Amino acid sequence: MPKIGLFRSHNCTHMARILFKNAQIVNRGQISNGDLLVENGKISKVGGVIEAAGAREIVAEGKFLMPGIIDDQVHFREPGLTHKADLYTEPRAAVAGGVTSFMEMPNVKPPTLTQELLEEKYQIAAQKSLANYSFFMGASNDNLEEVLKTNAQNVCGIKVFMGSSTGNMLVDDAQTLEALFSQSPMLIATHCEDEPTVRANEAKMRERYGEEVPIAMHPIIRDVEACWKSSSMAVELAQKHNTRLHILHISTAEELALFRNDIPLTEKRITSEVCVHHLYFSADDYATLGTQIKCNPAVKEKRHREALLAALLDDRLDIIATDHAPHTWAEKQNTYFQAPSGLPLVQHTLNVMLEFYHRGLISLEKIVEKMCHTPAQCFNVQQRGYLDEGAWADVVLLDLNKEWTVQKDNLHYKCAWSPFEGHTFKGQVEATVVSGHLAYQHGQFFEDKKGERLTFKV
Ligand code: DOR
Repeated sequence: MPKIGLFRSHNCTHMARILFKNAQIVNRGQISNGDLLVENGKISKVGGVIEAAGAREIVAEGKFLMPGIIDDQVHFREPGLTHKADLYTEPRAAVAGGVTSFMEMPNVKPPTLTQELLEEKYQIAAQKSLANYSFFMGASNDNLEEVLKTNAQNVCGIKVFMGSSTGNMLVDDAQTLEALFSQSPMLIATHCEDEPTVRANEAKMRERYGEEVPIAMHPIIRDVEACWKSSSMAVELAQKHNTRLHILHISTAEELALFRNDIPLTEKRITSEVCVHHLYFSADDYATLGTQIKCNPAVKEKRHREALLAALLDDRLDIIATDHAPHTWAEKQNTYFQAPSGLPLVQHTLNVMLEFYHRGLISLEKIVEKMCHTPAQCFNVQQRGYLDEGAWADVVLLDLNKEWTVQKDNLHYKCAWSPFEGHTFKGQVEATVVSGHLAYQHGQFFEDKKGERLTFKV
């Protein structure tokens, strides 16, 4: 069992004042050269030459400083599924990858369907999580009253599975959906795949192949129509009730017609997320990676991947996330129907985006916008997501040119596998500061202080 450090916020060595010297600072659409000072958990000064006698100095010449990433969709599996992952292991992996804050999903065991179960997760995270944290309240066909008790000031949102995935959390009752969309005082995040469409496609495939359905059929079973039907229904409901809707993991070109880029993000009531695996992989990869990339919604044909990147760049898609969804290697070795959906990603999400940067497909400023600024804006996260004076010090120091190869011995996931094993990435996180605490540097973790609970402006 790994040892869990005690919370000693004020006198621990890594909470000391930290001065980053001479960095390329990526913030608010610009890159500028300068220093950045962290004091008492916050960014106290940024830009220009800063003198701070006695501060721990980190020479950042030739390196880039960016805000910590806020990942709005992860599955960290605690409680109940801790053979796959937990709230100690996965936040460490997140921090090693430059993710300083996460929003975690309710499909754990038991599912997070009461306020009591929700608060228990916060208590576990306070003891174990190196990263800052928030947990979604889960909705079911019959827990509306509990959902409506959720405190919007310290819970990120309500999660509604409008399509089934890992866990048994489908909300398919029309009246319940109407009630949720009309009464929720806070953001509703949806998983959208039309269940009857998926079931009918599965039945057809079973007729053809029996239980031996090839993995390449996954995007034909969880197809474009299933995504379109469910996402367009969520948008219709949100428009009818003026709900604050956020649709998770958009995976098809067709769904992009549902989102706008003619108004600023601050005016949007309907926002969207794209995940790194839908930007990176395509249906061609089933041949080599098989069930490793089986996830819901499915990774689809190349044309979708290209359309998703274009929509990210022109702001129809608002946020980049991971949907980090670890399962054990043994579980993933099952046949099509038995192999669970989901893959571990949170440690490599920034690397995937930096690969796009090195290919000339996206700028650093845009990566920072979509991984740090817009998640903060969409969820109204207080004082995070930017390298601004007075904000919490969630800071990532990046060596853009360092090449490294993903291997078992540098993975921090409990499941101990990654679809990127053997792949060489260019760009590496050198250090990560979480709420003012130097939590990670050069492959080493400093765990004497845990992350903070996120809070939200209402
Ligand atoms: O592939 C997926 N896996 N998609 C989800 O929405 C859930 C996730 C999981 O929890 O395993």
